Amino acid sequence: MSALWTSDDAVAATLGTLVGGDPASGFAANGLSIDTRSLKPGELFVALDAREKVDGKIVGRDGHEFVAAAFEKQAAAALVSRDVDAKGPLLQVANTLRGLEDLARAARARSDAKIVAVTGSAGKTTTKEILRLALSALGTTHCSAASYNNHWGVPLSLAAMPKSARYAVFEIGMNHFGEIRSLVGLVRPHVALITTIAPAHLEFFGTCEAIADAKSEIFEGLAPGGAALIPSDSPYAPRLIARARQSHAAQVLTFGETGDARLLSYDDGHVRAEILGRPVEFHTGAPGRHIANNALGALLAVASLDGDVLNAAAALRDFAPLRGRGARFGAGGIEVIDESYNANPASMAAALALLGASKGRRIAVLGDMREMGDDADAHHAGLLKPIEDAKTDLVFLCGEHMKALWNTLPAARRGAWAATSADLVPALKLALQAGDVVLVKGSNGTRLSVVIDALRDDAAKRGASA
Ligand SMILES: Nc1ncnc2c1ncn2[C@@H]1O[C@H](COP(=O)(O)OP(=O)(O)OP(=O)(O)O)[C@@H](O)[C@H]1O
Ligand SMILES: [Mg+2]
Repeated sequence: MSALWTSDDAVAATLGTLVGGDPASGFAANGLSIDTRSLKPGELFVALDAREKVDGKIVGRDGHEFVAAAFEKQAAAALVSRDVDAKGPLLQVANTLRGLEDLARAARARSDAKIVAVTGSAGKTTTKEILRLALSALGTTHCSAASYNNHWGVPLSLAAMPKSARYAVFEIGMNHFGEIRSLVGLVRPHVALITTIAPAHLEFFGTCEAIADAKSEIFEGLAPGGAALIPSDSPYAPRLIARARQSHAAQVLTFGETGDARLLSYDDGHVRAEILGRPVEFHTGAPGRHIANNALGALLAVASLDGDVLNAAAALRDFAPLRGRGARFGAGGIEVIDESYNANPASMAAALALLGASKGRRIAVLGDMREMGDDADAHHAGLLKPIEDAKTDLVFLCGEHMKALWNTLPAARRGAWAATSADLVPALKLALQAGDVVLVKGSNGTRLSVVIDALRDDAAKRGASA
């Protein structure tokens, strides 16, 4: 297999200087890493400086401190911007983030892959993973790892794209204006897809209209002839369509309950749809209408790339719910839906709908949604409707903003409220009984993973004593 980056190609891409190692043989790297804890032999270590000032204090570390450790773990070379005491080939550039972006640009320029970029307030990783399965059925597919969607995650993912990839999918995130614009300029996708617009990061943006405009920056980086894919059910769809046209997207297509890819029926993972006028039937391994909706967006992307939609759709049978995003486990006769990874009003509603479709006593354990701005309490209280729609039997809440929801909850649905997720565990455990289905969801910072761990531990103990 040919190397991802030879020293000649990396020098040409970055205009850096190769020092150290054996100058005659240079290096050949088979991957990229910014973290020596996960670095694999043969990878190029990129020494990013992640230090920043927070409240007058320096937090984070400078990757240059770890170059020696990278070589101990058999890194092929290191990308650096200052002298380091390490034995091995060093590619010296003025700034390593800029050097990484240069590698990303070169990887894009030399690639023949058809490229999809995904953004949105919720469902980016889910849609990216659905696309990974769908496109892998058609050809070699490269995707961003995890949620690597920020100023270093996108160039890192792009610079790691093999020359042989036929398809590639990149997740792009943001928390301020201009961020997506610069990242999509590196990716230059043939298809740009927005999953949803929801009140997330409201603290920074103020309104959902502003969020929609910021996400729409993804259309500005479309390659000539490219397609903009927009969720038709979003209240912001007209705004997104106008932005896509303003960006001169060659095609503007929609997906959802109506649109160019539309859902005809959904029943427990079984989807009947019409995509660009053609009927398609498929099964998703993970349940939920929101998953079906993400799948429609993904299959519309496949159709926009002239891919074989029927084969791509058949591959979605293998789509399993992701950890913290709907993965389920049994805990002593109780079924737990682990949605502890993140939360905003849109993903809360989607997850509660999942709970509503479950059989058994329905219990919701919900934690604060972070970064919701001035109207945070109203957004939390607004969860009452999806809770009632899901016929939730009991609700357990933690966090200061969840008090607003607690105050609107009818007494019959009240489980308990606590300040932290850990404080909520005892009351929850007392209430649970065999046959219950328990949805656990909150922003990462609210640490609902503590509840998940407690339920797992409990089940393990009961299993051990049985
Ligand atoms: N189309 C959708 N609409 C609303 N909620 C969704 C949708 N797809 C997924 N979700 C919900 O959003 C949660 C997060 O999903 P995912 O990790 O795919 O989002 P993300 O946009 O990648 O998040 P992050 O910004 O943290 O990377 C899931 O657990 C699920 O509850
Ligand atoms: Mg993500």
